[in-house]
Amino acid sequence: MEGLTTRVFRKVHSEIFGPADSYYIPFVTPTSEPKFTERQMRELNPALNSGLNVIPQLLTNKPQDFEWAAKALYDLGYSEVNLNLGCPAGTVVAKCKGSGLLRNFDVLRPLLDGIFSQEHQIKISIKTRLGWSNPEEFEDLANLYSQYPLAKLIIHPRLKTDQYKGDCRKEIFEANFNKFSFPVGYNGDIVSTKDIHETLGRFPTLSMLMVGRGLVADPALFRKFNRGSAASKAEIRDFSEKLFTGYTEAFGSAKNAVMRMKEYWFFQLNLLSTEDKLAKKLFKAKDVQQYEDAVEAIYENSDILPEARFGWHKPL
Ligand SMILES: Cc1cc2nc3c(=O)[nH]c(=O)nc-3n(C[C@H](O)[C@H](O)[C@H](O)COP(=O)(O)O)c2cc1C
Repeated sequence: MEGLTTRVFRKVHSEIFGPADSYYIPFVTPTSEPKFTERQMRELNPALNSGLNVIPQLLTNKPQDFEWAAKALYDLGYSEVNLNLGCPAGTVVAKCKGSGLLRNFDVLRPLLDGIFSQEHQIKISIKTRLGWSNPEEFEDLANLYSQYPLAKLIIHPRLKTDQYKGDCRKEIFEANFNKFSFPVGYNGDIVSTKDIHETLGRFPTLSMLMVGRGLVADPALFRKFNRGSAASKAEIRDFSEKLFTGYTEAFGSAKNAVMRMKEYWFFQLNLLSTEDKLAKKLFKAKDVQQYEDAVEAIYENSDILPEARFGWHKPL
């Protein structure tokens, strides 16, 4: 997740709670100049992801840009690259990228034809939504994807027009996930171990589950699923402090790190019994002192919940 599951997050998360089976790097947009920028390399540099199974993700609609980037990633040591066909952000779809491609088969098909007409040493997976604005669109998309040797298809069963709202359209996922000859993964609204068990129970042939916001809210989610312990308050505290230190170092500014930490706390608070008035103070913090005071008050006055609450909201 852009801005959230960065190298700082991956390192601190894996150290405190044990590594996820794999981490997908927030998308990188390759340009026509065949070279990753310094900024992109700060996420992609294998030395910064060492010991972790990390999969980079590309956001592009040009086969030639995908081509050089996929080769460069293989040369960096990565074994899989993921193509983002899900991002619903206005600035992304306006450029016919991410889920913008889902309503433009005249761009999507040549993109996939171009990508898969080349020999690749790196495995290529796709992350997709069900379509642009109508679930029936998935039939044509599924037929299209089936024509290519994907390493994996990860489906977030919402439409572009759903953004991140409303229930995931699990009935559409259920009707389709067994149709493919390649492995299929599910992504969407998993926040508790119960959700993981229910999803695996309902879709038993899944090859993987991808969890976004739920893992930020409950960084011990996978450990609990693997019969380990729930996160303690001391661990969550350690986690948030190390993230803050890591972002302060990465940005060279504690004040900028506070902004980033507010994005993280938006999700993390779902694992705490924090009253809205304390949460509000945190989101209003204007400097490092106010931030640290607000966090201290949260820890003093909150309990850790056994599972993260579903439903994301910022206290008004
Ligand atoms: C702030 C934010 C940033 C995201 N960035 C990415 C991204 O870079 N690549 C991607 O595939 N999905 C991205 N997503 C989507 C999530 O990966 C995921 O598909 C979505 O949040 C639904 O799954 P979840 O309920 O497990 O979070 C992002 C979502 C959010 C809220």
